[in-house]
Amino acid sequence: MPTTRTQVAIVGAGPAGLLLGQLLHRAGVDAVILEQRSAEYVLGRIRAGVLEEGTVELLARANVAARLRAEALVHTGVGIAFGGARLRIDLHALTGKSMYVYGQTEITRDLMEARAAAGAKTIYEAEQVTVHGIDGARPSVRWVKDGKPHGLECEFIAGCDGYHGVCRASVPGTAIRTFEREYPFGWLGILSETQPVDVEIFYASHERGFALCSMRSTTRSRCYVQVPLADRVEDWPDERFWDELRRRIDPDAAARIVTGASIEKSIAPLRSFVAEPMRFGRLFLAGDAAHIVPPTGAKGLNLAASDVHYLSEGLIDWYRSGRKDGFDAYSRRALSRVWNAERFSWWLTRLLHRFPEEGGFLWKMQQAELDHLERSRAAQSAFAENYVGLPFDG
Ligand code: FAD
Ligand code: DHB
Repeated sequence: MPTTRTQVAIVGAGPAGLLLGQLLHRAGVDAVILEQRSAEYVLGRIRAGVLEEGTVELLARANVAARLRAEALVHTGVGIAFGGARLRIDLHALTGKSMYVYGQTEITRDLMEARAAAGAKTIYEAEQVTVHGIDGARPSVRWVKDGKPHGLECEFIAGCDGYHGVCRASVPGTAIRTFEREYPFGWLGILSETQPVDVEIFYASHERGFALCSMRSTTRSRCYVQVPLADRVEDWPDERFWDELRRRIDPDAAARIVTGASIEKSIAPLRSFVAEPMRFGRLFLAGDAAHIVPPTGAKGLNLAASDVHYLSEGLIDWYRSGRKDGFDAYSRRALSRVWNAERFSWWLTRLLHRFPEEGGFLWKMQQAELDHLERSRAAQSAFAENYVGLPFDG
């Protein structure tokens, strides 16, 4: 079996794996990325779109923010539509920070291009990836490519392989604790070449269910509606989607919607999940491999970025000065930020969605909480602080 060597083997070429690879490369640490899908498949997945300033700063430190700085839309506020009107929360006035709208696909493309320009190695379509020896000093990764087995010896493994990946699944059950909540609905999302519903993103709470009007650019709209888990994409022709969205948002916005054919349409289930700890010997988990948040707070990709920040610092410190306190502290530092984002995403999911089985009392509590948010500057401040995210080094 042909076997090569590297310092850090990274499993998964999503944003977490690619960003870690880029930060390590810039610090002179050698890493190889193994990805089970093709590059085109990874780029075709439409996911996150909203970045915290901390994430943008980290991308700048990785030297991959030039296009982002030129093209991202800067949002100084975010809206919540309820009761026929819209509340705007002025993020910048309340926190001094803004959010950046720039698609995950574009970040992935920028990172892939930087990696190719640096001549760093990514092996796409690596099948049957397995990890070995994480308890010892010489871990390794094996995979099959074009029907042939391959091996990679390394010093550390970074499991950046998402929720369904192989890395977390390779940890003995006795060494890991998981915490999970599934929600009884999903988000149906569509992407269309139409003018966004408004210039800023807004969420909507309505008796018929949650909705979200977002965007990828000034000419590309990204919108979501809450749907029952049993629904299929085929149940939702474009016309039905736009009609439902119109009914859930404030009348002013509904009157302005520009509809058009979808260029992507998918349903994502909602889940909260955390695996503790995030380190097992020489294996580190980062991003969705270790935790999932429901998308309501726009935190998933931003958490993947903060994990990678802590992990890259720990590994770079080790290679520069032989100090292991950075990677010893990785799990604790990352989890502190993870649990805070879990709390906010859970709270916002519960505030804005319909939970049919919980009846009228929850609906009344949601109305009361939204009214309170409208009246109280302190409540808006707390919302804004959470939405823009904790500093990575806090
Ligand atoms: P992934 O992107 O899942 O990447 C993991 C990679 O590992 C994949 O390429 C996969 O193919 C590969 N892989 C898996 N198994 C293996 C294996 N066995 N061997 C080799 N490779 C493997 N987050 C935000 O911050 N803001 C938002 O606005 C936002 N909106 C979202 C909207 C939706 C509809 C969804 C679904 C998610 C959203 N998120 C958002 C969450 C965000 O997209 C994820 O948190 C982010 O993709 C996590 O990145 P990752 O690199 O950890 O994992
Ligand atoms: C988007 C996704 C989110 O989960 C969110 O909270 C806000 C915006 C988006 O895809 O643009």
